[in-house]
Amino acid sequence: MIYTVTLNPALDKTVEIPSLRVDGVNRIVSMRADPGGKGINVSKVIRKLGSGSVALGILGGDTGRRILRELETLGIETCFHFVEGETRTNMKIIDPVSHTNTDINEPGLSVSEEILNGLLEELLGRIVRDDIVVISGSLPAGAPNDTYYLWTKACRDRGAKVFLDADGELLCQGIKASPYLIKPNNHELSSLVGKELTSTAGLAGTARKIMEEYKIGCVVVSMGSQGALYLTEGRCLYAEGLKVPVGSTVGAGDSVVAALAVALERGMTLEDTVRLSTAVGAANVMCSGTQAAEYHVIEGLIPKVVFHQLDR
Ligand SMILES: Nc1ncnc2c1ncn2[C@@H]1O[C@H](COP(=O)(O)OP(=O)(O)OP(=O)(O)O)[C@@H](O)[C@H]1O
Ligand SMILES: [Mg+2]
Repeated sequence: MIYTVTLNPALDKTVEIPSLRVDGVNRIVSMRADPGGKGINVSKVIRKLGSGSVALGILGGDTGRRILRELETLGIETCFHFVEGETRTNMKIIDPVSHTNTDINEPGLSVSEEILNGLLEELLGRIVRDDIVVISGSLPAGAPNDTYYLWTKACRDRGAKVFLDADGELLCQGIKASPYLIKPNNHELSSLVGKELTSTAGLAGTARKIMEEYKIGCVVVSMGSQGALYLTEGRCLYAEGLKVPVGSTVGAGDSVVAALAVALERGMTLEDTVRLSTAVGAANVMCSGTQAAEYHVIEGLIPKVVFHQLDR
């Protein structure tokens, strides 16, 4: 089974306001609201790929109950602990006239270590050897910086394969627990080593060093429209980005993580994993907002994926 962990979920509200004006009255011409947060986004894409996952995390209030209902409607199994307060709503205002995107994000819930430990215990009680646990996104207020280190270590000790997709200090701490896979983008990998990495060779070399130093099984470095690097023990493939019309690039990385989890669960070869995840990333980019792409779009892109073997 695949478990996704979202400790700081959000209701993602996308509204369209032509000619948005600050200090004026604005009228919304269209709007939609989707359950969001990185782990939840991964679960949604896994569903579109025809596999199942359990979405696990922390919710609060009416917004939390709405997210839960919508996930259940999408056919996603859930395991959320409810706490005092209200899950955040993140509003994205799209202005089709000035071609701007404006984000207005609520601060979100605060959690105690007791709540986090309760949820971790529940996860540990469910997972068995070779389950996949996807830990991604930001932490809620009150969660210590080493939370992902502790969760990764605890899941690994139960024999699960942990995918860690986090940034900054959370990634820096988390890799010390040797996750099975990490998927930094080029900027996240650069900030991890404190050096701007611009070339494919530089990114691949750095990813290999980190893999070996922290005993990580697989590193996927995504590079937006430039594609991604896939490093496993002894192999390194570079997949070119597919040329597709861009709707929204938000969540492209989450959809790649979903494809990587599905590919591992299905025992796919590295080549097929590269094909699927590149197609899923590009298909996601073609969608607007944080919607997950339909499978027939993904299927059409798979044969178009081009990749090369690199030296190391
Ligand atoms: N403009 C684009 N055109 C084609 N493919 C893209 C584009 N942007 C992203 N992709 C695909 O999606 C993958 C992941 O994108 P990216 O590197 O932007 O992830 P990310 O920064 O982790 O995103 P996020 O954290 O917002 O989900 C890329 O490796 C690529 O295959
Ligand atoms: Mg990302």
